[in-house]
Amino acid sequence: MEKVYIETYGCQMNFADSDVIAAILTKDDYAICEGAEEADFILINTCAIRDNAEQRVRHRVRELRALQNRRHQLRVGVLGCMAERLQSRLMAEEDNVSFVCGPDAYRKLPELMKEVRRGVSQSAPVSAVELSETETYADIEPVRLSGNGISAFISIMRGCQNYCAYCVVPYTRGRERSRDPETIVREARTLFEQGYREVTLLGQNVNSYSWGEQDNTVGFPDLMDRVASIDPRLRVRFATSHPKDLSDRLLEVMAAHENICRCIHLPVQSGSNRMLKLMNRKYTVEWYLDRVEAIRHYLPDCSITTDVIAGFSTETEEDHQATLELFRKVRYDYAYMFMYSLREGTYAWKHLADDIPEEVKKRRLNEIIALQGEIALENNRREVGREYEVLVEGVSHRSKEQLFGRNSQNKVIVFDKGDAVPGSYRRVRVKDCTQATLLGELTQ
Ligand code: 5AD
Ligand code: SF4
Repeated sequence: MEKVYIETYGCQMNFADSDVIAAILTKDDYAICEGAEEADFILINTCAIRDNAEQRVRHRVRELRALQNRRHQLRVGVLGCMAERLQSRLMAEEDNVSFVCGPDAYRKLPELMKEVRRGVSQSAPVSAVELSETETYADIEPVRLSGNGISAFISIMRGCQNYCAYCVVPYTRGRERSRDPETIVREARTLFEQGYREVTLLGQNVNSYSWGEQDNTVGFPDLMDRVASIDPRLRVRFATSHPKDLSDRLLEVMAAHENICRCIHLPVQSGSNRMLKLMNRKYTVEWYLDRVEAIRHYLPDCSITTDVIAGFSTETEEDHQATLELFRKVRYDYAYMFMYSLREGTYAWKHLADDIPEEVKKRRLNEIIALQGEIALENNRREVGREYEVLVEGVSHRSKEQLFGRNSQNKVIVFDKGDAVPGSYRRVRVKDCTQATLLGELTQ
């Protein structure tokens, strides 16, 4: 039986996809192995969202040449968004890549890999990159590759058709489609029965989850209600919410279930209305702030996190200041902060100049990072003295005597282990903090 090593880059969706890939391969004639050194095939599941994500993958692919020189049977395949974006071009540019497979074609992987082995396609490239309007891999029970046995990701929908001007995802992951809720609830229940205590429901835009017809549709709030009702000991998280359709109904459902975690990831991208319009985000700063207020109203203890892009096309100093101002208003608990990276094929690539000099982008990004650092530290200082229920996840990397876990707000808390064990819920009081971590002690 041939051995396959899967390496994953990029977002949580990709990690969830790698678990589906592992399931497809192990149902066929392949075994998953733990290290690149022993593999007959290395599959690299890639991200194309920013140019530096792609550069990292290319670097890794080139690095694998040395291993291939030692192991002649070793074949490298590139999967996911970068495979979809570049298709056979990638094999022409990186000649040690034997095949490419896009995110909707994973069922074809065993066939592709056999074709590679037979060497039938010396001339024609081996690839499967068709996008699908229906594929959700709903019937496949993922093999949890990188899990801790406590928290897991469940993919509930695929694709995106929001077409934000800067974003390549609609082109690499295809149209939006939702997965049958029965299969989602079943997967979550099975995980709970196996001892998992947290599931994160994943989609590019979970708020537009929709299954069924007319009077009988299951929307995202209904789905959350069903998953949260499995057991109060199963925590439920979700990502990502598009601000344009974060509904009060969802917030009501969250408020009704204590086990739905008090944490909402609400990517803002910019604090300037002019930029938001140019980015095709379909909301204004005022709308966004209204949604933040609604969150604070229904869920006063909810943390809010975001994504932001510095230096998008034509961004002025004034637009940038508006982003900083928005950060001061919302006081995010965490932010993923990026410099704008022009992506081939997007609306911005066709119609908008990438006209902000690199140093300016960098400086603006650094200003956002510095401000967010201060805000996160101030937010964390307010936590000192508070007590939380923590789902214990594992041993802290600082010391074997300490464990770490997260509270409902998704903040990491490190504490002396005492008699606590991973997978259990414990009460922890916050004693101190850094920008990124709370330090606490068990209270019982
Ligand atoms: N350049 C920089 N950041 C981007 N993102 C998406 N596309 C780009 C791009 N071209 C960021 C957005 C998105 C996150 C996943 O990645 O902030 O929310
Ligand atoms: Fe990209 Fe916008 Fe879709 Fe997010 S919502 S994946 S940023 S197009």
